Amino acid sequence: MSDGLYDEHPELYDAVQSDWDYDRDVAFVTDRLARHGADGDRLLEVGCGTGEHARRFAERGFAVTAIDKHGPMLDRAREKCERRSPDDRDLDVDFREAALPEPDLGGTYDAIVAIRGVINHLPPAALSPALDALRDRLADGGLLVFDNSPLPPGGNRPGLDTGTVGGERYARVSRHVPVEGGRLDWRSVTFAPGGEVFTDRRRMTPFADDEIAAALDRAGFAVRTADGYGPGDDRTVFVALG
Ligand SMILES: C[S@@+](CC[C@H](N)C(=O)[O-])C[C@H]1O[C@@H](n2cnc3c(N)ncnc32)[C@H](O)[C@@H]1O
Repeated sequence: MSDGLYDEHPELYDAVQSDWDYDRDVAFVTDRLARHGADGDRLLEVGCGTGEHARRFAERGFAVTAIDKHGPMLDRAREKCERRSPDDRDLDVDFREAALPEPDLGGTYDAIVAIRGVINHLPPAALSPALDALRDRLADGGLLVFDNSPLPPGGNRPGLDTGTVGGERYARVSRHVPVEGGRLDWRSVTFAPGGEVFTDRRRMTPFADDEIAAALDRAGFAVRTADGYGPGDDRTVFVALG
């Protein structure tokens, strides 16, 4: 397996994801916290990537701990937070390299989020241990919010993404190929700005929503689901009360 995008080209990750509505996701979470009457401000983001959600949560006054499996994604997240802190106000974000299913974190959090397919990076056998680990980190009465990406269990045909980074064009061809154990092998070839070409191969899991709901139940969560973080989002979002 190789993770050229996460390990070597986090700037390209941002370019590929530049149309994503991060504000909408953050508004969804803060709305659910308000409805739930949650008043604590300690928030853990799992799989924070390049920090777009973490920064927004911190700007809204949360004390954020943000973890990711890939150090270069965290480096970019730190750099962006330092650069974009509005009015030079320091943001309360602690970026740490750590991964599910054993994130090796102390303390508890009033809210835990894992936004945009983070859970789909886990093998099926790691789902329950990961949810148990998050349950242990959630304060009593806290809220866990994460989504299940609608990956194609039978695979798909190659698709093309194109765009620009710093005024230079990139192109990526990618597809999911079904492999053993109900998983998908995500394969991509990217022509990066500057002439570099790199490949990525990453195992992903197309979880059924029922499977996730059952695992949450076993971990002791009471669960609600939503159709996406907002209109036009085709993920299932799980809102789980600790
Ligand atoms: C699709 S990206 C989403 C990133 C970010 N949440 C966003 O919306 O931009 C998935 C992220 O999950 C991270 N990741 C993958 N497996 C992980 C694991 N086991 N534990 C923590 N993070 C993981 C990847 O490094 C990547 O940054």
